Formats: sequence, C-alpha cells, structure tokens
Amino acid sequence: MDIDLGSSFLRVTEKAAIAAARTMGRGDRRASDQLAVEAMRTEMDLLEINGTIVIGEGERDKAPLLYTGEKVGLDKDGSLGYPEVDIAVDPLEGTNLCATGANNAIAVLAASNKGGLLRAPDIYMEKIVVGPTARGCIDIDAPVKDNLGRIAKAFDRNIADLTVVVLDRPRHEKLIADIRAAGARIKLIGDGDLSAGLAAAIRGTGVHAVMGIGGAPEGVLTAAALRCLNGEMQGRLVVLEDWHRERLEEVGIADPAHVYTTEELASGKDLVFVATGVTAGDLLAGVRFFGGGLRLSSVVMTLASRSIRYIDTVYMAEDGIYEVMR
Ligand code: FBP
Repeated sequence: MDIDLGSSFLRVTEKAAIAAARTMGRGDRRASDQLAVEAMRTEMDLLEINGTIVIGEGERDKAPLLYTGEKVGLDKDGSLGYPEVDIAVDPLEGTNLCATGANNAIAVLAASNKGGLLRAPDIYMEKIVVGPTARGCIDIDAPVKDNLGRIAKAFDRNIADLTVVVLDRPRHEKLIADIRAAGARIKLIGDGDLSAGLAAAIRGTGVHAVMGIGGAPEGVLTAAALRCLNGEMQGRLVVLEDWHRERLEEVGIADPAHVYTTEELASGKDLVFVATGVTAGDLLAGVRFFGGGLRLSSVVMTLASRSIRYIDTVYMAEDGIYEVMR
C-alpha cells in the first residue's frame, strides 16, 4: 500500500478525531463514539478503494455503520479497479477517556491488502506487547518475572527500571501482584491498551511493555502498528462463553487457545496504520481548537515504505468553517 493511500486514510482518522473531540468531557461515551463513527464512515467513502471493514463496530444488526463486512470506498463493487483493501477501525479508542476528558483517546484504523488482518471477533484477548528493543524476549506462557527479566536485560537495566502498562481491572489482580513482586513499576490505565501498545513500541515514552487482557479488535490494530514499528506482540483469545466459541467458528478460528504472533494478527505485506489524537496523550496531542482553526496530531505508518510519519496539522477556519470539516 503506497504512501498516498496512507495520506488519504489520514483524513479519515482526522475527521473522526475532530468529531469526537468536540464532545470531550460531556460524559456520554456512546454519543462521542457515534459521532466519530459517522465522521469516519463519511470520509472513508471518498477514498479511491474497494474497501471491506474486517474489524468494525460489530455485526450488521447492531452497528448501522462501519459494521464488520461492510463495503466502503468509491469502488464498492470493484468495477473501477481501485485497490482491494481490508480495514480494521476503531473510530474512538477509549470512549470513556473522551467522555471524561482523560488522556490517550485516539481515532485509529489499519488497512491491509486482502486477508492481511485477522478477523478477530469482539471478545477479549490476553496480550503482551513490547517494542523493537525487547523483540524476541517475550513468551506469553512464561511467568511474569521471567518476561520482565528478559525485557530488562534487553534494555540493559534492572527490572526496577521498567514500567509496565496494565488495564486497571479486577481480572488483573494476580498479574499486578506478579509485576509488583518482580519489582517493576506499573502504570494502571482506565482504558486504552491500544495507545499503550503504541507507546511501548516507541522509545522515549517511558513505557516498556503492556500486559493483560483487553479487546481482541484492539489487539489486531496494535499488531498492525507493531509490524510497522518492528515491535512484538503475542495474543491469545479469551473464550469464556458459548457465543465466543460460536463466533470463532464463524470466522474460521479452529483453535481458541492458539497464541497469535504479531505476524499472524496482522499478516499483510502491505499495511498502513493511522491514528489521530482525540484527547492529550503520551504519543499524540489531542485536538486543540482555537479561535481561527484547529490543530491535530497524527501518526501514519506504512510498512512497505518503512515510514513512520508524525503529522502536526493546523486547519485554518475560513468564514468560521474548517476546510477539514467540509
Ligand atoms: P472502548 O474504546 O470501546 O471504550 O474500549 C476501550 C478499552 O479500554 C480498550 O482499550 C481495551 O482493549 C478494552 O476497552 C478493555 O475492555 P474492558 O473495558 O471490558 O475491560
């Protein structure tokens, strides 16, 4: 997938981020999400692609827009010969974060050549994520202290000098105790393990690993970014109920206990990952509105060109209307 397509997708996350950011702090996470979804969907349909949503907002009957399986782009029937693209979206990752004005809400998508993103159902996934420095050091089945020992060695430091991000959930009680016992520092987050995964893969953010159970769709999106960033992730779907098993069968996943590698989660040879900050964050600034315009902070990663572009954009208002909102 070429750089130009990455730039086109940038408009999609930008629009979603602006729409969501306008609602920051209103305390209505569903409304924030809905506006982001609508904005993303509208912009997506202007792209010169024959796109299919492979990870979306849920099944068609529950999600009217950006549902899994929905066709998007200007060439939905393939008659124009535009590239066939599979797309995973999270128009507002961290709906609660946006609703409360907390850090690290982002608008995000990943796109790939056909078949290049695991069609993970919307269930939980157990994850361990590290950046390029600790690539090759993790084993999701190993004790926490062994993983932390190997990660610390890769960073040439003590375990006490590592920071691990964990979602603050009761299900992580043992994990948190194990990390504490091993001696690492912990950053507990309310939401947003996708943003945390990006931070872990980028030096200078002060995050060295993400561990624990979060959403499987977020896992696939994280893996797409990690492919571009040379990081590593392992993930295992968490199957707790009968309908989970049924969903796995529907999408053709035979072994629910399989440990997915980064390359299995996002296998595409052409991958694009795009994110725009909604609220202020470790990696991306949030949307800043000012009298004459607005300012956005985004990242566009393209595997084929091995490029990670940080994009800081100011859209100036003309007659009170932002060009980007047209
Ligand atoms: P939303 O954007 O859908 O609110 O998800 C936020 C999130 O925190 C993800 O980052 C994470 O993977 C997942 O929810 C965890 O799920 P749960 O809140 O059920 O523990």
